[in-house]
Order: sequence, then structure tokens, then C-alpha cells
Amino acid sequence: MNDRAGGGDIHALRRPAGQPALRAGGCQVRLAERAAFDRQAPGPIREGLGTARERGLNVLLTGASGFIGRNVASALAAAGHRLKPASRRHGIDYCRMQAEADWLPHLAGVDAVINSVGIIGESGSQRFEPLHRTAPSALFRACAQAGIRRVLQISALGADASAFSAYHLSKRAADDCLRSLDLDWFVLRPSLIYGRGGKSADLFMRLATLPLIPVIGDGQQALQPVHISDVVATVLQSLSTSTTRQTLDVVGNEAITFADWLQSMRQAQGLPRAAMFHIPLPLALALARLGRHFSPLLQPENLRMLQAGYRADVQPLTRFLGRMPLAVETRLFFSDLVPTGRP
Ligand SMILES: NC(=O)c1ccc[n+]([C@@H]2O[C@H](COP(=O)([O-])OP(=O)(O)OC[C@H]3O[C@@H](n4cnc5c(N)ncnc54)[C@H](OP(=O)(O)O)[C@@H]3O)[C@@H](O)[C@H]2O)c1
Repeated sequence: MNDRAGGGDIHALRRPAGQPALRAGGCQVRLAERAAFDRQAPGPIREGLGTARERGLNVLLTGASGFIGRNVASALAAAGHRLKPASRRHGIDYCRMQAEADWLPHLAGVDAVINSVGIIGESGSQRFEPLHRTAPSALFRACAQAGIRRVLQISALGADASAFSAYHLSKRAADDCLRSLDLDWFVLRPSLIYGRGGKSADLFMRLATLPLIPVIGDGQQALQPVHISDVVATVLQSLSTSTTRQTLDVVGNEAITFADWLQSMRQAQGLPRAAMFHIPLPLALALARLGRHFSPLLQPENLRMLQAGYRADVQPLTRFLGRMPLAVETRLFFSDLVPTGRP
């Protein structure tokens, strides 16, 4: 469980001598990098992951241009791994990657796969079923066929037996597919993630600047936000540990109410506490039905998920990382990868 080589504390990661630390969020994964990967990548990997880890892993990272993906990409590069980024801007659209055969050509030379593609609301051709369930499931089965054993799925807290939203149900379907395969899999279920550049955290930041803060009902919904650096640390640890086949809830070490969450975001922006504007749930749902035409984030189901809260036991993650994840601090709202205080 405490096999920390190449994972865990992101600031203890291996970096080639003389190469400066990469700042997460500043890492632009470009087509040129993908081409470099393709040139370096050997044929199908027949060596064990241990040997591959010593020379750095070839990692297919889907969703590489997203909030989680950018930060994971930076940390992987800093640790000496090679990336094959995938997303629409890298020429891979999940809507057209629905079968194993679509993925196999992209898996040559790959040692490990991280799936970090996702949407929070449906719009146009961006639907939960093809993006969250069918394409990732095809990818996971293709990994099994290609002999790529280490596969990480970024799922979401709540994608469990209690799931009721189309978002969570589609995530859980892909999680179940991965768990059914004979692979060294990890299903990581992050809570609400905060840090520089996150879409939902940005929306809450903007909400927090209003003179009256809108909350659903009493605003006492319990959240357990997790900082992006702890998500990245969990991903890196999952790549290197020998204790595989784990489903982990990736949560921060303390719960906070939705109202206090928004107040601390005000504080982070140098604003005094503000009065709350309490919106009854039925009215909030009706407003969200209108709002979804303006932003995919504003969906009635997202409000219902918020109302249900985002909480989980932090102990399994603490044991996995060998330390507590970070507690919410205002300075962290504007940071991505931060020192953990470990040597
Ligand atoms: N952020 C959070 O608070 C949070 C919490 C729990 C779970 N998660 C899960 O973590 C995953 C990533 O979240 P995130 O915050 O990094 O999201 P994000 O910033 O919106 O990034 C989404 C990524 O998916 C890619 N993508 C979207 N549609 C695609 C398509 N049709 N084909 C290929 N790639 C596509 C995007 O790239 P292109 O636009 O270039 O295609 C981008 O790289 C999601 O599954 C999300 O549900 C996030």
C-alpha cells in the first residue's frame, strides 16, 4: 500500500537532472508531444510494469486538455513518464470511439491508461451514454485485449449503489465494466475538486461574489471538496502501487456546508461575508430547467446531486496516500499543485 516510487507525494517525484519542475496548468500537451511519444514508443509492451516504470511509463491520458488532465499531465511529465494525450483537440472524439477496434491503433506502445474524459451536463452531441459509458468501456476492453494491465478510471463520488442521476449512472456503468475485467484497475471517485482552473470551482467562485449568496434551502448541504493536488497524487500513486484493483473515494479531509463553502470563496477573493438568499428546492429546480439552456452546468440533476451532498470516509484515501489529504484553505483556491510538507 505504501509503495510510493513515482507516486504519492508529487514533490518527491523523479525528474531528470537539470529539468525544471513543471507547473501544472501551464503544461500544454500538444500534437508535437504526441508525435514525440509515437516516435519513442516501442512495439507492444511485453515487459512487466516494474521494468517499464524504471524507464518511465508510456501513458495514454484521455481528457488531457481538461482540468484534471492538465494537472495529471504536468505531474506525469515531471515524473519522467511519456504522454500520449487524447481529447477532441488531439483528434480523438469519444463520440466516434465506441468500439474496441477504434481504440486498438491508439494503444500501441502504451503501458498504462488513464481515462479522464467527462461532461457535467449534456449538450448537442455531448451525451452521457457515449462519453461516460460506451467509449470508456470500449477503451477498457481494448486494454484487456492489448495486454495493457494498468488502467485508471476517473469516476465521480456518488457513482455507487446510491446513484440516481444520468451522470452518475453512466459513470458507474463504465466503472463496473472496468471492475469486471482481469486488469490492474483503479476506479477513482473524486468529490468536488477545487484549485486553479476548475470549471465547477470557477462557477462557485463567481456565485460567491454576488451581493446576496443564493443557496438551496438552508444551504447546509455537506460537501467534502478535494484539492486538485490530492487528486493528482492519488493518480500517481495508483500508477505505481502494487496493491491494485481498488475503488477509492477521493475526498478532502473535512466536510463543509455549501453556505460556508461559498463564504470561504468570498473570503479568498477579499470580500466580507454576505447574507444568504435561500431558494426553496422546487424553485431552484425550476430555475435550473431554464438555466440549462445557457450552461450545461445548470441542470436540475446537478442541483439534486448537490442536495444529496458529497461526503465519504477519508480513511481509505489517507491510508492509500500515507498522509491526510488537504483541508480547505482559502489560499488553495488559486493553486494547483502544492507542496505537501513532506521532505
Ligand atoms: N472537476 C471536478 O470537480 C470533478 C469531480 C468529480 C469527477 N470529475 C470527473 O473527472 C473527469 C474530468 O473532469 P475535469 O474537471 O477535468 O473536466 P473538464 O475540465 O471539463 O475536461 C474534460 C475533458 O474531456 C475532454 N472531452 C470532452 N468531450 C470529449 C469528447 N467528445 N471526446 C473526447 N474528449 C472529450 C475535454 O477535451 P476536449 O474539449 O478537447 O475534447 C477535456 O479534456 C470527468 O469525467 C468528470 O466527471 C470531475
